[in-house]
This record gives sequence, C-alpha cells and structure tokens, in this order.
Amino acid sequence: MTERPILLLGAAGQVGGEALPLLGGLGTVVGLTRADLDLADAASIRSSVRRLNPRWIVNAAAYTAVDKAESDSRAAFAINGDAPGILGEEAHRIGAPVIHFSTDYVFSGDGNRPWTESDQTAPVNVYGATKLAGEQALAASGAAHLIFRTSWLFGAHGKNFLLTILKLAREREEVKIVDDQHGAPTWARSLGQLVAQCIARVEKDAILMRLTPTEAMKTIGGIYHACSAGETTWFGFASELVRIEQLARPERPLARLIPVPSTAYPTAAPRPLNSRLNCKKLSRTLGFEMPSWQNSTAQAMSELLPG
Ligand SMILES: NC(=O)c1ccc[n+]([C@@H]2O[C@H](COP(=O)([O-])OP(=O)(O)OC[C@H]3O[C@@H](n4cnc5c(N)ncnc54)[C@H](OP(=O)(O)O)[C@@H]3O)[C@@H](O)[C@H]2O)c1
Repeated sequence: MTERPILLLGAAGQVGGEALPLLGGLGTVVGLTRADLDLADAASIRSSVRRLNPRWIVNAAAYTAVDKAESDSRAAFAINGDAPGILGEEAHRIGAPVIHFSTDYVFSGDGNRPWTESDQTAPVNVYGATKLAGEQALAASGAAHLIFRTSWLFGAHGKNFLLTILKLAREREEVKIVDDQHGAPTWARSLGQLVAQCIARVEKDAILMRLTPTEAMKTIGGIYHACSAGETTWFGFASELVRIEQLARPERPLARLIPVPSTAYPTAAPRPLNSRLNCKKLSRTLGFEMPSWQNSTAQAMSELLPG
C-alpha cells in the first residue's frame, strides 16, 4: 500500500517554505504553490485533494496583502474565507486532519490584555474578516483541525517587516516606525516546527492508542494562539533589528529610527493596536513553548548576516 502524503498548500510562502523541509522528516510531502493549485478555484481544490488522498492537509496559503484586501475583498474572501471550508469538507471525506493558520487581526485591538482563544472576535479590516470567516468555515466542515492564530510573521524570504526594515535602514538616513501597535514578531520557522511537532505527536498517539489521527485529534482540536513569547511594538522590533545589524557590520551607516503613532502612517486597512496573543493554551495542551521574539530575531538574523 502506498503511503498517503502530507499535503502542504502555500509551499512557497513564509510558513510553507519553513514547514516543507521539516515535514519531509515525517514522510512524503506534496508541497503545492499557487501555480499548482489556485485556492480561489473550488473545483480544483476538490479534485486535487481527491487525487492526492493526503493523510494530513497543512494550509499555509492565504491572501496576505492586508491593505489590498480592502479593495479586493471578493478574492480575499474566496481564498481566506471559503477555501478553508472546502478543504475541510474534502479532508473530512477522507479522514485527514487539517492544520490551518489565522491571525490576531480577528480581534478588535482594544485594551492591552493579551487575547485568549475564547475572547470575542471583532475584526477591524477586511483581511481580518476573511480570516475569521475561514476559521468558521473550517470548524463547520466537520474535519478534525488545528487552527493556529499567529502575529507579525517574519523570515528570511518573502515580504515581511524584517527584510523591509533592513533594506530601508541601509538606504535611508531616517525611518519612521509605528510605536503604538503592540504584539509579538513571530519567526515563520517556529510555526513550521510547531506543525511538524503536532503531526508527529498526533500520529504517535494514534499508533499508541490504536486510533486514526482524526480520532486522536478529538481532545486537542480547535483554535490555538501561537506567537513568540514576549511583546514589543514595530518600533521596538525595528530597533532590535538595527541593533543586531549594527553589531554585525559596525562600519555600515544605518538610518535613525523615529517612533511615530499609527495616525502618522495611514494605511488602507486599519490595524489593531493590541495584537498581543495569550499562548498559554498552546503550551498547556500541546506542550509547545514558543521561543521569545528576541531569540527568534537573533537566530533569523544570524542566518541572514555574514560571519
Ligand atoms: N504574514 C503575517 O504577518 C501573518 C500574521 C498573522 C497570520 N498570518 C497567517 O499565517 C499564514 C501564513 O502566512 P505567510 O506570511 O507565510 O504568508 P505568505 O508568505 O504571504 O504566503 C502565502 C502563500 O499563499 C499563496 N497564495 C496566495 N493566494 C493563493 C491562491 N489563490 N491559491 C494558492 N496559493 C495562494 C501565496 O502565493 P503567491 O506568492 O503566488 O501569492 C504565498 O506563497 C496565513 O494563513 C496568514 O494569513 C500571517
């Protein structure tokens, strides 16, 4: 009998790119990009899942252009809102659990307490509304699932704040950075590790308890907050990046960073001011401790910087 693969969607994205080699240690992985499967095409989702018959589906693909989503909500809802439900329905048919990602942007951003999984959702922008719709569609699909809400992703590839700030700091004399949004920058690799560890754990439990992975997921399925430990602002994160870059290359002049309020940096999509996520459920239930944002940043930077 041929082994059923793990199907990874969004294999060229930040999280997908980190998850791909890690999942390889757990068996055959089929990593698909947008060119292989367009999540806006419901029929293609169904036919791909039926053809590949995966034992797990990891959906790291999403419409992540937060500002563009404001004027392109149809596409954003199709990819972020509808596709997870269709994936879930197909996964349910074949008994494959689904791992999916969501965002702190499902919350209003009010207050300063870290959000828990049971807090009231109230997205302030279209992207957040599409991601919330996706959570609900997956939950309603009947598939066993884990949804990891994360925040402020960065990595060595793709479009992210770390790469943007390093570029601007090298090119400009002065860079203004928002200092009133609070959250935790999270390394895409941490999420790749989380996904691989969860699959390994569920499959091991399933073997030990003579269950299917779907049955072994019964007690742990649902939503989890999964971001780095600690908190900062975008200005705090940028300051740390520039500090590390300056230590690595003392001879290179870097821009002066200037803290500004969100009101000084208007964007098409409003951003929540409080993006803090309480990740206690993740460590308590799944036994996974997310590293601090400072450690993750230092490690990611050490891969990016020479020496
Ligand atoms: N980035 C963040 O700060 C952040 C924060 C919180 C939560 N999240 C969530 O975390 C997850 C991973 O985010 P990420 O930063 O790794 O995303 P990413 O780097 O933007 O990667 C997303 C991938 O999805 C693909 N994609 C977009 N539209 C698609 C479509 N119609 N069909 C198939 N693939 C499509 C993209 O392909 P193209 O490159 O060809 O468009 C890209 O490779 C997502 O669910 C995201 O919503 C992200």
